Amino acid sequence: MPSQQKSSPEYQQFDFLMNAPALFNAAATAAELRIFMFLSENPGSDFEAIRQFTGVPSHQLRVLLQGVCAASLLERSEGGYRNSAVAEDLLASEEPGSWAHTLIGWKEIYYPAFGQMTKALKAGTNTALDSYPGDEPTLYKRLPRNPELEGVFHKAMAAFTLASINDLVEREQFSTVTHLLDIGGGDSTTTARLLERYPHMRSTVFDQPSVSELAHGKEAQKFLDRIDLVTGDFFDTPFPEGADAVLFSHVLGIFSAEQIVTLLKKAYNVLPSGGRVFIYDYNVTENETKGIYGARLGLYFNVLASGTGMAYPAEDFEGWLAEVGFENISTVAELDYEHGFHVGVKP
Ligand SMILES: C[S@@+](CC[C@H](N)C(=O)[O-])C[C@H]1O[C@@H](n2cnc3c(N)ncnc32)[C@H](O)[C@@H]1O
Repeated sequence: MPSQQKSSPEYQQFDFLMNAPALFNAAATAAELRIFMFLSENPGSDFEAIRQFTGVPSHQLRVLLQGVCAASLLERSEGGYRNSAVAEDLLASEEPGSWAHTLIGWKEIYYPAFGQMTKALKAGTNTALDSYPGDEPTLYKRLPRNPELEGVFHKAMAAFTLASINDLVEREQFSTVTHLLDIGGGDSTTTARLLERYPHMRSTVFDQPSVSELAHGKEAQKFLDRIDLVTGDFFDTPFPEGADAVLFSHVLGIFSAEQIVTLLKKAYNVLPSGGRVFIYDYNVTENETKGIYGARLGLYFNVLASGTGMAYPAEDFEGWLAEVGFENISTVAELDYEHGFHVGVKP
């Protein structure tokens, strides 16, 4: 094979792909060992200082640091180690928006499931969920059996949500909302950011009971007087009345077309005339060939989380909104991290 071909971007991407699982886990391990935080506070530390801080045996630490340097997250010069600019920006803090939470959540929950991809896709259902006790059909409904893991999951979810939330919060449509209904609002991270930006707004957050309890976490704490928590299964429990807008953020893509239409109908039924539904989710583009975040998400849904769903194209969301009876349907495309924002108005 000509060496010219091997240095092309496609070959380099293949090389990266082949080694990515090990490097990903090295980065997650460094995050778990708090190496990025240590080096942020102590830049230029030598090997011995990192060994003492982590307690990892010398040879094993040498191998780990080689992996993290090869992943371009650490730099080594004159015997000292520093975070790369990316690691310093994304991984060196414990704030709710730190990608360290996302790395650890994906390592603990998402990526172990991908080893079962062939089996799950052939079976046509999320067989990787068998690793979690219970008979509930989705990961979301099994996680409450394991509060510690559910905490890891929602920390990761909230951190990733915070990475993409500015494009949502700045949609001008929110400026005229007085009462939002945030369906599947998780630990209220999204609602908290909206309430901070729009002081006249209040929000009802609907999620499972164990998840609603997490709303007392850092982001939502300041706004609890403007947040009502409603709990239940959103397929079985009636949506609460009184909101003039309903938000589905990172919720509809989890489900099948039929389930999405069911949820949109429930939103339609509780909205007044002129009320709006907002969908914020991943959109696949370019003939379903582009977008690594959406591709990962669709595989995770099908192998583990729900056995269905994907990063649907914008046209699919628009079609479902029209099917349910919404009008003035619009999409803002190509938002951060492959997101789209879809709006429908109840006539
Ligand atoms: C992917 S998270 C999205 C969280 C939040 N909206 C965001 O954008 O960060 C999906 C949320 O839907 C909730 N959920 C999933 N199935 C549910 C159900 N059947 N009833 C109630 N909540 C559910 C999960 O607990 C989780 O908090």
